[in-house]
Amino acid sequence: MSKLLSIDSIHVSYGNIKALKDVSMHVDAGDIVCLIGANGAGKSTLLKAIVGLEPLIGGSITYEDRIIAHSNKGQNSSMSSFFRRNKGNGVNSLRTDEIAGLGVALVPEGRRVFADMSVEENLDMGAYLVRDDAKIAKKKEEMYDFFPILGARRKQKTRSLSGGEQQMMAIARALMSSPRLLLLDEPGLGLAPLIIADIFEKIHIINKEENVTVFLVEQNARMALKASKRGYVMENGRIVLADDSDKLLSNEKVRAAYLGE
Ligand SMILES: Nc1ncnc2c1ncn2[C@@H]1O[C@H](COP(=O)(O)OP(=O)(O)OP(=O)(O)O)[C@@H](O)[C@H]1O
Ligand SMILES: [Mg+2]
Repeated sequence: MSKLLSIDSIHVSYGNIKALKDVSMHVDAGDIVCLIGANGAGKSTLLKAIVGLEPLIGGSITYEDRIIAHSNKGQNSSMSSFFRRNKGNGVNSLRTDEIAGLGVALVPEGRRVFADMSVEENLDMGAYLVRDDAKIAKKKEEMYDFFPILGARRKQKTRSLSGGEQQMMAIARALMSSPRLLLLDEPGLGLAPLIIADIFEKIHIINKEENVTVFLVEQNARMALKASKRGYVMENGRIVLADDSDKLLSNEKVRAAYLGE
């Protein structure tokens, strides 16, 4: 398996708060890999760093053998806030839209749908990098086939959808750009177990049938580990465990801290 994404010793800070400390991990092409950890561990920060929304103060991120984010050593703090405001990562780093253009799509935590837009308009937003209207129309139909509930609700304002339907829409919106790597930030957040199971089933199909590599962040450790091949555990901004997901499921420490056993 070839490495699609490689995170090498990255550090990210919010002012004095060190959110990520020497984090290294990788995702092989074709896999589903998960990251579990408690509230505030740094999971969302890691996803934001991957898509260029948070600058690195150490380390680098490589996607398809190309460095997409790199720390800008020697940069002073006012420069650092300048780069943050501009959603860039400094001199050697790509902008968020450039990273998206390489085939990396993020479904952000809390879904961030455009509530006053229809389902269809939200999907159009996901295709902002696609120039060809016929391609966009075809992709939308594919999404309506894959998520029939979205097809039935295509003209409806997004705020009228249930939480689960909004999550499906957020995933469909990310898929509009035909990504190779899909980053999911807590797709199960606030949803009932049956709905979470539905969403995980869709993620499985997206991975197996559409050949999309998935990096999944979840607080629901059991679901995430069952759905994935490999997993990482993050505590206080550090990776404390990395293993095959089935091994993590039977790991005493993981069972006690994350599986409530
Ligand atoms: N914009 C910000 N400004 C300052 N501190 C932040 C900011 N975003 C996150 N943090 C802090 O960084 C740390 C990591 O936050 P992060 O959102 O990455 O955690 P998380 O693992 O995603 O948590 P959750 O499971 O609650 O979503 C926390 O201590 C958080 O308070
Ligand atoms: Mg988070």
